[in-house]
Amino acid sequence: MFAAPGVTLRGDIMKTTKNRRWAVGITGAVLAAWHILCIPAHTAPVGHTQFKPGEIWTDTRGTPINAHGGGILYYDKVYYWYGEVKTGKTWLPECNRSWNGTRVETVGISCYSSGDLYNWKYEGNVLPAVQDDPGHELHKSKVLERPKVLYNAAARRFVMWMHVDSQDYSLAHAGVATSSSPTGPFQYLGSFRPNGAMSRDMTVFMDEDGKAYLFHASENNATMHICLLTADYLKPTERFVRVFEGRSMEAPAVFKHQGRYYLMASGCTGWAPNEARSAVAESIWGPWKELGNPCRGPQAESTFRGQSTYILPVADRSSTFILMSDRWIQNDLPDSRYLWLPITLTDKGFQVHWQTTWRLNN
Ligand code: DGJ
Repeated sequence: MFAAPGVTLRGDIMKTTKNRRWAVGITGAVLAAWHILCIPAHTAPVGHTQFKPGEIWTDTRGTPINAHGGGILYYDKVYYWYGEVKTGKTWLPECNRSWNGTRVETVGISCYSSGDLYNWKYEGNVLPAVQDDPGHELHKSKVLERPKVLYNAAARRFVMWMHVDSQDYSLAHAGVATSSSPTGPFQYLGSFRPNGAMSRDMTVFMDEDGKAYLFHASENNATMHICLLTADYLKPTERFVRVFEGRSMEAPAVFKHQGRYYLMASGCTGWAPNEARSAVAESIWGPWKELGNPCRGPQAESTFRGQSTYILPVADRSSTFILMSDRWIQNDLPDSRYLWLPITLTDKGFQVHWQTTWRLNN
């Protein structure tokens, strides 16, 4: 194109330059907006949309979730996952050499929250181990395992039950802590043997009528006890039964469906996996009928190399339950993984089928 001489030309040039500046400015702004809208989607931690049993599971910070031997509380439309913090070096104390009872220093109980069960936000160490008093039951040299939390509506308190033990597991106590908030901090109230009976692996179960029960491996793990808790959930009552006598079961996990009580548990082989057990009862007091190994699929005979810890009723779904298990890595306990699998209800009981990845149906 030929331009006419003079001001007009200069004016045109100026107009053209101005237009170019505008164009560059607008293009820049569009690109910047594109950047803001698109780039963070690639760089922010990716949201999880499925369960991947046995794989490293990260929280919303992108950090591996550290909540072993755990349990879940559903409160006010939020799931809270409590578990053992396992970090640092794994070693074998001399006192546990005969049964290969490795350990890490006790750190405390972690809490994570989630609205969808796939994505978990770290809420902190809600019951930290005691650092400087070796005589304290929560001292880092002791055992603190399998925390489970209930909400007591009457008292508006959150009550945590857990396995508290000496390094050689000879204390065999159940411990209790409470908080006014699900995210703690929890205040430790102490530990004891319920009705004088040993208590190692345990879980708590709240029935539809609000009564709560402690299931605990007792009598040196030979026989399980089921004990009614006081109305405030802080203590055991004198009412308890001995079940699965001489069957040596630990890692109890309990759920209720259509009026029946179901239990999953393991045998007693330390951190090493074994074949799971299951049982059903019409009343929580029994009789409990054993139903055998509920696992199906590859490595079903070793509970998929895992051990049960909790069975979660999924909120607002009448027949959806998730088995939470731990795949313990005996010589590197912090690398232990989570195996969450769906429970399949059957005519007689329930089954757990292996899935490499899965998600809840919409
Ligand atoms: C098996 C239990 O289920 C775990 O909680 C833990 O106590 C290990 N034994 C220790 O070996």
